[in-house]
Amino acid sequence: MLSEEKNRQLTQVGPGTPMGEVLRRHWHPVAGIDDLERHPVKPLRLMGEDLVLFKDLGGDYGLVDRHCAHRRADLSYGYVEETGIRCNYHGWQYDNAGRCIQQPYEEVADPQARQRCKVRLKAYRVQPKAGLLWAYMGPEPAPELPDWEAFSWANGFVQAVFSDVPCNWLQTQENSIDPVHFEWMHANWSRRLRGHTEGYAPRHLQLDFEEIEHGFVYKRISEDTDATHPLWTIGRVCLWPNGFFLGDHFEWRVPVDDENTLSVTWSFIRVPREAEPFVQTSIPTWVSPIKDPETGRWITSHVINQDIIAWVGQGRITDRTQENLGASDRGVAMLRRQLFEDIDAVRGGRDPKGVLRNAQANQQVGLPSDSRDFFLHGLPLHDYQRHPKWSRLLNHFIFHVGQPEWVQQAHEAATGVKIQRMNVLDL
Ligand code: FES
Ligand SMILES: [Fe+2]
Repeated sequence: MLSEEKNRQLTQVGPGTPMGEVLRRHWHPVAGIDDLERHPVKPLRLMGEDLVLFKDLGGDYGLVDRHCAHRRADLSYGYVEETGIRCNYHGWQYDNAGRCIQQPYEEVADPQARQRCKVRLKAYRVQPKAGLLWAYMGPEPAPELPDWEAFSWANGFVQAVFSDVPCNWLQTQENSIDPVHFEWMHANWSRRLRGHTEGYAPRHLQLDFEEIEHGFVYKRISEDTDATHPLWTIGRVCLWPNGFFLGDHFEWRVPVDDENTLSVTWSFIRVPREAEPFVQTSIPTWVSPIKDPETGRWITSHVINQDIIAWVGQGRITDRTQENLGASDRGVAMLRRQLFEDIDAVRGGRDPKGVLRNAQANQQVGLPSDSRDFFLHGLPLHDYQRHPKWSRLLNHFIFHVGQPEWVQQAHEAATGVKIQRMNVLDL
């Protein structure tokens, strides 16, 4: 339970707010590299700021104010030039540092205008990595953009999926340190959704939470596992401050504003030995829906769609004055405590937890992963198809509904295995 004031501190993301300033000390994935190949100009709202992301004809990325500095036209309707973006209203042109580099009529009327042009748009850093474009909206110097080891795994098919989730970021991130929900929300609920009216998944018997440099790890023992199982010896990573690494995929929860979050999933699926070597030339990114247009209800069939139902069900901003935390929420309490420490750190002029500054150390940074051995070594198709966990990834895309045909085809071409339709998750 939190006071109203403390809940506000953790949930507000705008510039100048305590948590908004903490989140601005980190890089966030905001779009797909391939998305900008399709449309070089994209409007984005991030942490309460309206911006426009672009790739200019020279190949550089920019992230600038959505509104032109001249008379505020919408730059998401602008067009890219060799350098930067040009407003479609009177042609003022901006580079990716936000400098106005051309004011066409002003320069005719007064040839010295170029020198006098002091106009500047708000502009943020953008970097490509792992198929995604990452934004940094904080003060200089910018920290390192984390180079997670999984981004370099070979012989895998990677795709990234975006969903617009109409609720605050914090409740989505609290899900990253909440092991017990797996038993009820995914395992048991999916059984009921498939029509089984009896029986329950193995119960959780023991939980543990540990702090690591890059976040927290949660560990579990259930009725069907023991202390030698990787879910206890390795666990899962609540990645700091707004990510989740489950050994085979990442999830990030990027604040759009106080009441909206961009969910970003990055999934690696190892190809069977027979399909090696496989080199992926382009990582497909796509948008997954969360609502069934016919019924108006949330979609229940896929893992993260189910999670989203929990998040939005908690309200646009969870009222944490009304909750009753239990023993299963020890991790949630740790997460909140650390965020308050992060707020204090930033107020004191220090880096919050999880900010990487050492470029040497930021190379293929390893994270705990129960999938690592499999992803590094792979399996022959025969064994892969019979593996209780990995066959599920090979045969379906279980995380988000709506994988487009072209991504499915690329997936099948990579693995040599046909994707099967999945109406309801089978865990
Ligand atoms: S409003 Fe953009 S150039 Fe005039
Ligand atoms: Fe979940």
